[in-house]
Amino acid sequence: MSIKKVCIVGASGKLGRYMVRHALERGYEVVGVCRERSVPKLAEFADRITIIPGATNDREVIRKAVDGCDGVLAVLVPWGVRQYSSGTAQAVLDFAEPDARLVFSCGWHISRDGQDQYSWKFRAAVRVVTVLARLVRAVEIDDQVEACRRIFASDRKWTVVRGSDLEEGESQGLPVWSRHVGDPILGSNLTRRVDFALFMVAALADDTLIHEAPAIVGRCTPSARAHAAIAGTAENR
Ligand SMILES: NC(=O)c1ccc[n+]([C@@H]2O[C@H](COP(=O)([O-])OP(=O)(O)OC[C@H]3O[C@@H](n4cnc5c(N)ncnc54)[C@H](OP(=O)(O)O)[C@@H]3O)[C@@H](O)[C@H]2O)c1
Repeated sequence: MSIKKVCIVGASGKLGRYMVRHALERGYEVVGVCRERSVPKLAEFADRITIIPGATNDREVIRKAVDGCDGVLAVLVPWGVRQYSSGTAQAVLDFAEPDARLVFSCGWHISRDGQDQYSWKFRAAVRVVTVLARLVRAVEIDDQVEACRRIFASDRKWTVVRGSDLEEGESQGLPVWSRHVGDPILGSNLTRRVDFALFMVAALADDTLIHEAPAIVGRCTPSARAHAAIAGTAENR
């Protein structure tokens, strides 16, 4: 299916605004959803996109926003303690057009098949953040896990893009990916945020990513370069 119109759920965040830019560059018509108070953050795009203000887990807001869209890009964030991520994911799964490409963002801590190999440092960090988040009741990491469980169980045309640690900076091009955290190519654990967004937008038109949960890393990182060198050596043999 060719992509003409996309909805970006969570358009006002850092990742969201990069996605808006990439989508406009591809000539897509863009509908953005963000909280009412964040609408000014989209001012630079105001004359080129349709903005639907509202909570991203408000089912009526999502129903209206995804209407007629060939693709939906959804930022899954675990904010608040009212099932923000799972509410957003469920509404997108329920109301997106039957054939639409659905691309969701999350972090490496989400595992699709339990085959990811995390370092002890990574596991400890996730545990600390989860416990602290529960204490301050501002973030609900478990709900992002629940959101992804529902997506993985769905037969919609989904992709869940699992981001590494992020940094700002100019684009280095499309990140490389692997199915499992722990694979050597991902070792550097760093991606430019602008390129995370690029991967999300490119996934809309890449049917090989349907029903995949790629873990991504910047293409210029040492681990990605080392992998490219090994692959090149193998090809030349
Ligand atoms: N940060 C990282 O290092 C990292 C690493 C791996 C993966 N990821 C993934 O990348 C995605 C976006 O991460 P990001 O760091 O780039 O953040 P971001 O794009 O700035 O996104 C934050 C989003 O959360 C919303 N938000 C903030 N406070 C909120 C609240 N109290 N209630 C409801 N929504 C709220 C923001 O909306 P407003 O504009 O309305 O505030 C925005 O849409 C997420 O899926 C995350 O899991 C992040």
